[in-house]
Amino acid sequence: MSLVTEHFMRSCQSLAGGVSSSTRVNQALGHAMKFDRAQGCRVWDLDGREYLDLCCSHGATLLGHGDERVQRAVEGVLARGAACSYESELHTELAELLCATIPCLERVRFTGSGTEATMHCIRLARAVTGRNLLLRFEGNFHGYHDQVMLGSNEPGVFHPALQPQSTGMVPGLDQHIVQIPYNRPDLVEEAFSRFGDQLAAAICEPIYYNAGCVVPSPEFMRTLRRQATEHGTVLIFDEVLSAFRTCAGGAQQHLDVTPDLCTLGKAVGGGYPLSVFGGRTDLMQRLMPEGDCQHSGTYNGHPVVIAAAFAAVSAYREDDFYSHIESVAQRLYDGLRQLFESRGLPIRIQGLGARFGIYCGIRDEVRSYQDTLPHNREMMLRFIAAAIEEGVYFHDYGGVACHHGFCAATTLDDVGEILDRLGRAVSRLT
Ligand SMILES: Cc1ncc(COP(=O)(O)O)c(C=O)c1O
Repeated sequence: MSLVTEHFMRSCQSLAGGVSSSTRVNQALGHAMKFDRAQGCRVWDLDGREYLDLCCSHGATLLGHGDERVQRAVEGVLARGAACSYESELHTELAELLCATIPCLERVRFTGSGTEATMHCIRLARAVTGRNLLLRFEGNFHGYHDQVMLGSNEPGVFHPALQPQSTGMVPGLDQHIVQIPYNRPDLVEEAFSRFGDQLAAAICEPIYYNAGCVVPSPEFMRTLRRQATEHGTVLIFDEVLSAFRTCAGGAQQHLDVTPDLCTLGKAVGGGYPLSVFGGRTDLMQRLMPEGDCQHSGTYNGHPVVIAAAFAAVSAYREDDFYSHIESVAQRLYDGLRQLFESRGLPIRIQGLGARFGIYCGIRDEVRSYQDTLPHNREMMLRFIAAAIEEGVYFHDYGGVACHHGFCAATTLDDVGEILDRLGRAVSRLT
């Protein structure tokens, strides 16, 4: 038995399900992978096997594992005692850097996870507007809190009945949500014409990476922005996953649409647990102690993660950062397309910046959650299992179509190696 399997079985005796996060079980393996160490774009498991990493901590390690700049920043804070639950110069410097980098940010708050960030944005929008209803988009993921963990069993439907996606949730939360399909400007118009004066907020993934990689049409985004403004609804871009993938200013800069509030997570912390929410000053002033809306937490803005984030965001702002991301993206996505095509496999790649989706059995562009439903998960799981055997790590966390990605430490030579290994993996399938 491998050390990975042996250790997973051991962890199941003390850690619920053997994991710290339910989605950490890799569905293609049937258990969690157990890693020992990581460097750059590579990770090593407990048995010492090396993998080129195309999960990259679900997008958190955009710079790569063990980035020296982040490490130095963290060590600097540790050497000074890492005084937590206090404010320091570092907090102001990071807040200033973020406000100078992300278009909608005039004021920010630091918090711990993407889940917390969306929860606080929604609370703030309700506080500011005095309204309850939330407009959201089918399949878009906004974390694990009760306000957003609802979904429908009727794909493609306008304002369907919603069911809780976990047990243990208070009934009736569905009454506060209007859900419509993504990328449908006509349905955005309809939602606002029917519910506009009751909508506190509209929240979306501005690039819908949680379904692999779904890019919004300019008309969809323009309509959403215009309708939200006309109806006094707070437009929230959930950029937990999309920020820093294509450019330093996030999806909002890439799409040239500025929301009222946004969330940042994952990559913002450079591999350390930070999330951010923020936006217009007049909205953020509603937070205590200036206003009456609560956001607080003992570990908010821990100095270690603030220092890591400052180093990471500074790196994203460097001149050649995104030209490198683009050249790796092009080589990798074109290479994957050629690989699948040459083997006659009906597998589609959609990627933008540093993250991408793989759709098995789908040939046409995926533009919504509904479009992902024909995705052949059985084929995907076999591909991932074979890729892991050949030394490329993908993580299937159980979504209909999962997102994958690379980090900036990946070189063009590494891409060549990834494609060679995946070529061998594909041979196992055919
Ligand atoms: C768009 C989006 N929002 C929110 C979250 C939740 O973030 P976290 O897992 O840090 O709570 C995620 C996580 O994948 C996400 O992709």
